[in-house]
Amino acid sequence: MQTAQDVTGKVLIIGSGAAGLTLALRVADSHEVAIVSKDALSEGSTRYAQGGISAVLDSTDSLEAHAADTMAAGAGLCDPDIVRFAIQQGPAAIAWLIDQGVEFTRNGDSPGSDSGYHLTREGGHSHRRVIHAEDRTGQAIENTLEARVRQHPNITVLEYHVAIDLISVRTSGQPDKRCAGAYLLNTRDGQVRAMPAAYVVLATGGASKVYLYTSNPRSATGDGIAMAWRAGCRIANMEFMQFHPTCLYLPGQAPSADARSFLISEAVRGEGGYLLLPDGTRFMPAFDERAELAPRDVVARAIDHEMKRLGLEHVWLDISHKGGDFIRKHFPTIYQRCLELGHDMSSGPIPVVPAAHYTCGGVMTDHCGRTDLPGLYAVGETAFTGLHGANRMASNSLLECLVFSTTAGADIVGQPLPAPAHVKLPAWDESRVTDSDEEIVVSHNWLELRRLMWDYVGIVRSTKRLRRARDRVQLLQREIDEYYSHFVVTPDLLELRNLTTVAQLIIDAAMRRRESRGLHFSLDYPERNPDDRARTTILVPDGFVGGELPVCWHLRPGSGSIEDNQKPGQK
Ligand code: FAD
Ligand code: SIN
Repeated sequence: MQTAQDVTGKVLIIGSGAAGLTLALRVADSHEVAIVSKDALSEGSTRYAQGGISAVLDSTDSLEAHAADTMAAGAGLCDPDIVRFAIQQGPAAIAWLIDQGVEFTRNGDSPGSDSGYHLTREGGHSHRRVIHAEDRTGQAIENTLEARVRQHPNITVLEYHVAIDLISVRTSGQPDKRCAGAYLLNTRDGQVRAMPAAYVVLATGGASKVYLYTSNPRSATGDGIAMAWRAGCRIANMEFMQFHPTCLYLPGQAPSADARSFLISEAVRGEGGYLLLPDGTRFMPAFDERAELAPRDVVARAIDHEMKRLGLEHVWLDISHKGGDFIRKHFPTIYQRCLELGHDMSSGPIPVVPAAHYTCGGVMTDHCGRTDLPGLYAVGETAFTGLHGANRMASNSLLECLVFSTTAGADIVGQPLPAPAHVKLPAWDESRVTDSDEEIVVSHNWLELRRLMWDYVGIVRSTKRLRRARDRVQLLQREIDEYYSHFVVTPDLLELRNLTTVAQLIIDAAMRRRESRGLHFSLDYPERNPDDRARTTILVPDGFVGGELPVCWHLRPGSGSIEDNQKPGQK
């Protein structure tokens, strides 16, 4: 296996999900690329995506309808220009995937689109517009793109390398700092190396692992968001953490065993599944006229409300009325996994609960993925483009990964390569560190952080709970900083450090939003402000690298942001 020091990729991509792999393929014909993943290349949220990708592919649908649905789900906070742009690019993004070899499910005998592909429905969508590969769309995408990346002569793959931090340098004659590489920990030999690059791309996925219960895999620890923050980039809308309404409830599992991690796709409700109370009553129609197909924030809050009102451990999801053949055909993976876990979807309801699922906020970017730091891009779930607003609509995430990795790739390819920095990158300093003798501190703090975020910063929030969370996270942060400066870095310690930073960003953003909107609901501010006062929450770090995002940024005249330029901790 190659290591970081063997490679001088001109484009260093950190992350190998849909966003990172797409970008690699988009630039590799003209640039040398190194793509880094902290686990095996295929591991990440992309691989687990079930429902599909939203795009306008049927003549009865329209770009306007997709945009209107996205903005309604986003509760007044989407950037309309970005929404229109992403949705216009959707059909081309799907065509590109098909061209790469992704095999989407065709119409068959089911009602289908005039594109020849079967389109399913999910919450918030007024039309069938979600193209999918059965109920394992992510696996189909990841496997296809991974095979392409491994075949490409200009792409070097570095698996089992954890990016620790970005490296910024000031080159002679340039007033601003530029991102010039990253420190990478090779988890196989424990060595840290500085890897130089002309462009660095963060494609590290989301941060839902900051919560005790989540649908996300282990990798979703917000590393890219934390690295960008430490490098001086602005981070936006972190209060909007999305909880998926339906993960399978597994009784009696220890929290550390990642209970609730198996997702039951929204497409199950899209194809006719009902949410039920223990006595068999359908409760969603009482909360929203769209019932089970209301946007996720509405459905997750309704479930949370009913569970608290009735003291329930879970509610029920029933699609058995569609019959075994239909269920096995449309949801083979979900059906099989449920069966393995003791639940037959074809013969009765299955128990479900909400769990943390998606990070709507992230590193602020323009429509080409550029961040505040020259030379640094962010794409996919780690980025904040303005597409999702206060609540992401189902299946718009993979769309965002594909569209903005394509524009970021074109932006990189369209620029002359910067002149070599002629600056020696600072080597990793290990002079003061020794091996830890207390690994228990890390594992204990991991669990404590995730539990307190679940209890105090979950689906329903209050100022008192947020303050309590803020105080405890500050204590944890001090302990972790101290630990970090004394002991040799390990993947667990690096992830804990990043999760703690992300937790602070979520809490700070939530405390600044004095209203309830989209995914952020506060008992102290239950009303939504008028939409002409809707604001993006922008957090500005110490050592902000400054500069305006070059093009197409969300802060158009008259918009602005909540308490712009306040640093976390200032109240
Ligand atoms: P990921 O696919 O999460 O990849 C992140 C990559 O970054 C990984 O390779 C990881 O190893 C790497 N990485 C992270 N930190 C570091 C580091 N420090 N150093 C090196 N590498 C690092 N969205 C939809 O649109 N439709 C769906 O049907 C859908 N279903 C979903 C089902 C599930 C169960 C989940 C969890 C999510 C689902 N989503 C869906 C959301 C969507 O899958 C994700 O938002 C999307 O796949 C994110 O892609 P990404 O490339 O940004 O990140
Ligand atoms: C699902 O299949 O329910 C997940 C879809 C998404 O997160 O967009």
